[in-house]
Amino acid sequence: MPHHFVPGRHAARVVIGFLTALLVAACGGGGSAQTASQTPQMSAQAQLGELIFKDATLSASGRMSCASCHDPALGHASPFAQSPVALGGPGLDQQGLRNPPTLRYLRFNTSFHFEPDGTPMGGFFWDGRAASLQEQARGPFLNAREMANPDVASVVAKLAAAPYAAQFRQVFGDQIFTQPDAAFDRATFALQRYQQEDPDFAPFSSKFDAFTAGKAQFTGQELNGLALFNRPDKGNCAACHPSTKPANAPGALFTDFSYDSLGVPRNQAILANADPNFFDLGLCGPVRADLASRTDLCGAFKVPTLRNVALRQRFFHNGVFTSLDQVLRFYVRRDTNPELWYSTDTLGNPIPYDDLPAGLRGNVNRTEGPYNRSPGQGPALSDSELNDLAAFLRTLTDGWAP
Ligand code: HEC
Ligand code: HEC
Repeated sequence: MPHHFVPGRHAARVVIGFLTALLVAACGGGGSAQTASQTPQMSAQAQLGELIFKDATLSASGRMSCASCHDPALGHASPFAQSPVALGGPGLDQQGLRNPPTLRYLRFNTSFHFEPDGTPMGGFFWDGRAASLQEQARGPFLNAREMANPDVASVVAKLAAAPYAAQFRQVFGDQIFTQPDAAFDRATFALQRYQQEDPDFAPFSSKFDAFTAGKAQFTGQELNGLALFNRPDKGNCAACHPSTKPANAPGALFTDFSYDSLGVPRNQAILANADPNFFDLGLCGPVRADLASRTDLCGAFKVPTLRNVALRQRFFHNGVFTSLDQVLRFYVRRDTNPELWYSTDTLGNPIPYDDLPAGLRGNVNRTEGPYNRSPGQGPALSDSELNDLAAFLRTLTDGWAP
């Protein structure tokens, strides 16, 4: 049975439901919306990290910073509404392969590992290939379709010419710019500290947090949406996007940082997909050369947090959907109405899971709700239930004010 990490993983989780969420709230474990007066001062490294994060001069184009693809106004997710994936490179016209994910709440993630029951978990990027935020931060500076610097030395030369160069030397040593590898290492460390320390990356300031803390009321629609989100026989969303607080965070994260193969439709707007033999296989490579033999993991991508999901311009690793409503309809009608989502064969029949090579389509999760259905069956949620679910998901946007 090839893909069994999936049900194994959730067996223990589905029992945690709505009631638990309320109990946690009663114990004061939920919502920790930080006010300005509580905001701790960031370390000197994190303050430098913020300057680096927002500095477009560190790219070949001179017009692209980390914030260009992870927009703070959109929950640090992709601002590319017109393109399925990011556009970068020296002329800002090179298409990447994946949708820039949100950077929020990643401080509670771990490095990639297998749980004792075999469930893949943790890691950074959609395929978990970077072990830490620091390791991740090396990538974009040197990626030819992103910030596109030719090498580490050229990034460091730009840092040495930045307005904050003196501050960099003060924090990391007077001679730091004479050792490019060490200087690049410190810059990526500063980016990690910034993402870990700045409350903007984990504000827990949504209406859901206020509700959990007993400081706001949900409308009837939002309450029903939350119940549908949690119920294993309805949305079953909480099986992978838990709505309860884990031990290591002040509130629910709406991801367990595990992986799943959802059978997301192929996105023809990604240029690389013009080649019918090209497939982005997620966990099994080719970028994850270490897992190349684990063909059972092909097609699995990391579960993203649903916090701030209403602000997304693009959804899923390949940016194939542009609205939350589409995503919700896909979840409940993927297998009942494959013709709505997939390309067709020469006879006009839909090709379910068309973004995986035929031999790997068996990896797609068909055992868990809400997508454990067959053509001819009704969807797990009606249209009005999907509206309630969407209303609940809109309570996950940070910066809520009564
Ligand atoms: C050209 C757009 C672009 C730029 C610039 C960019 N990123 Fe990203 N970022 C992406 C994409 C696309 C991914 C997903 C790539 C993948 O999964 O292979 C990503 C993934 C990430 C992740 C992993 C998120 C997760 O869920 O594991 C982090 C963290 C991150 N970026 C931080 C940064 C930092 C820090 C910078 C600046 C040094 C930066 N990014 C610059 C597009 C960009
Ligand atoms: C079995 C695990 C699982 C279940 C159940 C599940 N999800 Fe997901 N969800 C994922 C994974 C994995 C991804 C990323 C898939 C990809 O990009 O290929 C994802 C992505 C998403 C996204 C896109 C977010 C983004 O930033 O692009 C949304 C929205 C979402 N899920 C909502 C839901 C809702 C609502 C439900 C319940 C109806 C649900 N999910 C049930 C695993 C799951």
